Amino acid sequence: MGPRILVLNGPNLNMLGVRQPEVYGHNSYADIVDLCRRTAASRGAEVDVRQTNDEAELIGWIHDVARNRDFSAIVINPAAWTHTSVAVADALVIPEVPVLEVHISNVHARESFRHHSYVSPIAAGVIAGFGPAGYGYAVDRAVDLSA
Ligand code: DQA
Repeated sequence: MGPRILVLNGPNLNMLGVRQPEVYGHNSYADIVDLCRRTAASRGAEVDVRQTNDEAELIGWIHDVARNRDFSAIVINPAAWTHTSVAVADALVIPEVPVLEVHISNVHARESFRHHSYVSPIAAGVIAGFGPAGYGYAVDRAVDLSA
């Protein structure tokens, strides 16, 4: 069995396609799930792609990785929690697997509150502003780092 990558998405990302298409594009959340699956399959890997609007649920999923040791890397778009949550960043350290941070938009070209990320200091890599394609790059890199 190849590497298993957990792809996590934070709040409002289930609304992609409807939410501010001028910022996030017209792709739906389902399109992103599909891209992650196709990218993983092309590398002989598997992905489990999840989204939640509940911070406690996200943290629970990260804890499960530490308990079950069933994923070799985490790709995460923490969405607004990127800029607010010490708790999410603290949780991401616990499983001791590589973390790849993804943002669809170029957060550095937007409001100043989006310029700071609690997750970036603990991430193996950060991708921002490549649109949904960033998820494909992140999954690809997560497979490299799982070797
Ligand atoms: C985002 C950028 C965040 O600032 C924002 O809160 C999001 C999405 C992105 O993918 O560009 O919800 O993470």
